[in-house]
This record gives sequence, structure tokens and C-alpha cells, in this order.
Amino acid sequence: MSQITCFTNTIICGDARDKLKELPAKSVNCLVTSPPYFKQRNYAVENQIGAENEPAEYIDNLLTIFAECHRVLTDDGTFWLNLGDKYIDGELLGMPWRVALALKGQGWLLRSDIIWHKPNAMPSSVKNRPTTDHEYLFLFVKNKNYYYDVDAIREPHVTFTEKSKMKGGRNHFGKVNGTPEDGKYGGNPNLHNGRWDQAFHPKGRNRRTVWSISLSKFREAHFAVFPEKLVELCVKAGCPPQGVVLDPFIGSGTVAVVAQKLGRQYIGIDCNAQYCDMARSRLTQLPLLV
Ligand SMILES: C[S@@+](CC[C@H](N)C(=O)[O-])C[C@H]1O[C@@H](n2cnc3c(N)ncnc32)[C@H](O)[C@@H]1O
Repeated sequence: MSQITCFTNTIICGDARDKLKELPAKSVNCLVTSPPYFKQRNYAVENQIGAENEPAEYIDNLLTIFAECHRVLTDDGTFWLNLGDKYIDGELLGMPWRVALALKGQGWLLRSDIIWHKPNAMPSSVKNRPTTDHEYLFLFVKNKNYYYDVDAIREPHVTFTEKSKMKGGRNHFGKVNGTPEDGKYGGNPNLHNGRWDQAFHPKGRNRRTVWSISLSKFREAHFAVFPEKLVELCVKAGCPPQGVVLDPFIGSGTVAVVAQKLGRQYIGIDCNAQYCDMARSRLTQLPLLV
């Protein structure tokens, strides 16, 4: 378990490469972050990530930051990394996967590549390829044994319902008027745990890897802001109650806001002083942690 330090529940203004070094080892349970994308936006600050000339330089800078993140994360911690891709001279860079593979090389274990599908993505005028409406959300961990609350983010069953008439449906209950539990332990052996989870688990089926979540409407920020729903899923599954969530690129403060709403602690870092103020002001509008 992480410890409460003088850094918890603060927004720290400065370059993540410097500020992360001040945090104690193993002091955060969960990282949720969206770094600036390569050559996407000018955050008007010296030392900003994303303005590098070459992809390799960008990846190196991210690796420096994520090496420090590895140090400050507890051994059972989770790291959720959101990255989008970019076309340069008509060619897709494949940047999310380049970064993901570099992180695997750094010792992180990749547990999931989640597609964040954006139903309200910006339309585009391209006529020679599909319009992009997704980004990646990678789940990395330090060790095979890590905190993950599967029940906290289950989703509604869609394939079967208790009244389903699909072939062999009744057998899934073991017998007519049986219960899903009967079906699981005494019924059709065809009902292996995975199928039971998919069809009958009372809290819904295990969440899938395509998350359809609309873009955020937080208009104060002039850059891409996390939708709260996306962060909520990461925090609920990847951070124990009262644990500490870190975002080294906090921007408008979404990760801190969600952490506080969900009864977790937060640490946010950003190199742009205006954004730090924006994050602090959003946080003051929330009820205090109990
Ligand atoms: C994509 S935005 C993050 C938005 C955030 N997820 C939100 O919901 O508002 C990336 C942020 O990284 C910050 N940033 C860029 N380079 C940085 C660095 N070297 N250290 C810390 N923050 C940096 C930018 O100022 C910007 O606020």
C-alpha cells in the first residue's frame, strides 16, 4: 500500500522529469495519464514534451518520465496510458505502439490494449482512408500480481439474458427454473467459467477492450481533455479505495477530479502554470475528501 506524503492531494507545477524525482519510491498505486501527442499541439512552455523533431527523441523523453513513474509506483500498481496517433506527410506514425513497445523494453508488462472509441470524434474530409475515431489506452503493470477490481467495471450482458432462447439456453441453468449458479456448478459442462461470466454473472460480464466514450465537453481548456468516464474506469479497476493516483501530465486536472470524486488521493504534475491553476480551481469546486 502507498503512504500518504506531503505530495498527496497537490498539483505540482514543473517539468515532470524533475518533479517526479522528488516523489518517494512506491508512493502511488495507480497512474492514469495522457502525454502530449507527438507534434500535435503547442503547450507554450519550454521543455514541453511533444515538440521534439524526431519520433525517437519524443519516445526517449517519455521513457525518462515513465522510468521515474516505475520507481514511484507500488509493486502491485497499475499504469494506464492514453495515446493517439498522427499522420505526417500522409503516413500514419504508429506512435502509440512504438511507445508501448519501448515501455515493454523498459520492463513494464503490457496487460491490455484498449481501444477508446469516440462516438463524437471530429469529422474529416479524407476520401482515401477511413476517418479515425479511436485512440489507444494501454494497461501496464510492474508485476504479474497487481491490484485489479474486475467487478468495479463490469458491463451489462448483451449476448444472453436469463430469458434467452438461444440453442441450449435452458441447459445453462442446469435445469428449468434453475439458477445461473446451478448451471455453473451442476449443469451443462459446456458452461465453463468464461461463458458463465459472459452470460450470467450478477454484476454483468467482464469489461471488453473497446470502450465507447464521448469526448469531454470541458471548454475552459484549449487542449484535449480526458472524459471523466474514461478515467473513472481506470481508477475504479486499478486503484484501491483511498489509494493514490498520479498523472504527470495533469492538464486541466481531470484525473485529480475523478480520483477525489471516487475517494482516492491524487498527485498531479504539469509544466504549464496556467493549467495547474485551472486544475486547482476545478478541485476547489468539489466536496473535500472524507
Ligand atoms: C494532453 S494534455 C493532458 C490533458 C489532461 N489529461 C486533461 O484531462 O486535462 C498534456 C499536458 O502535458 C503537459 N506537459 C507537456 N510537457 C510537460 C512536461 N515536460 N512536464 C509536465 N507536463 C508537461 C502540457 O502542459 C499539457 O497540459
